[in-house]
Amino acid sequence: MNIIDEINNLKVEKKAVVLAHNYQLPEIQDIADFVGDSLELSRTAANTDAKIIVFCGVYFMAETAKILSPLKTVILPDLKSGCPLADMVTVEDIKKLRSENPSAAVVCYINTSADVKAECDICCTSSNAADIVNSVSADEVIFLPDRNLGNYVSKYTKKKIILWNGFCLTHELLKAEEVLELKKQFSAEDNVKFVAHPECTEDVLKLADKVTSTSGILKYVKAEPSKNFIIGTETAIIHRLKKENPDKNFIPASRKMFCQNMKYNNLELLYEALSNEQPEIEIPEKIRKKAFEVIDRMLKIGKKD
Ligand code: 13P
Repeated sequence: MNIIDEINNLKVEKKAVVLAHNYQLPEIQDIADFVGDSLELSRTAANTDAKIIVFCGVYFMAETAKILSPLKTVILPDLKSGCPLADMVTVEDIKKLRSENPSAAVVCYINTSADVKAECDICCTSSNAADIVNSVSADEVIFLPDRNLGNYVSKYTKKKIILWNGFCLTHELLKAEEVLELKKQFSAEDNVKFVAHPECTEDVLKLADKVTSTSGILKYVKAEPSKNFIIGTETAIIHRLKKENPDKNFIPASRKMFCQNMKYNNLELLYEALSNEQPEIEIPEKIRKKAFEVIDRMLKIGKKD
């Protein structure tokens, strides 16, 4: 039996579901029961009746699944799968920000650790950030950790946004000049569209026809009559874009946009994780409960674009 059949058998035998982010390796996306962006994956993790969730993504995503489904076994095949952006803000930073801005609400991007979430008021993802910021009653909002998403949101709200200086290493690699160079290679008839993730820098986002989450990019491409797309996010999303739109062309805005952390989970580790039901995500209940409130507020309010 090959490894794909073995994984599929184990999934059935153990009543397990495999959730994968849009940046995972192609073979992981292909074997997953559900592939999506952070918001879709959170909703799926909250609603599944599987006994085991194998989360193929990065640590904070698996943690989010555990926060929402504490009675389920949540497994991350390779615990090395971190998120440098999530590591750019700590509980101490939030306590300091709160003492300096006592009337501000704290909105955290889902790319944060469970203990950081537990200190915030509400969570958001790249697909609902502006709706979430506008939903809070405070006139001032501390937005963390991503400075680019926070800056992008500030264009869609009247609230004063207090930014934190975190950033995604992968998205900040893309430079506006690269996009301009690529655009030049297309004629007007090619009707090329540039679509970018809001973790890109402001000068890159200014060039975009559409700014949206990873699954927002998938939706936009499907609906848009153009055949040519420059993709301003992690390149692994192109696997799903091609699979769902075989007649369209996808050009990575930069081949440097590669997130190693999203590539540690592979078929061998997925097989081992399912067999051993390890490595399991555990969160102290006190932190989990507080973080749950923060995510649950988002799930109740957040609209998907
Ligand atoms: P999405 O929620 O758009 O999938 O983004 C997650 C992420 O970590 C982007 O770097």
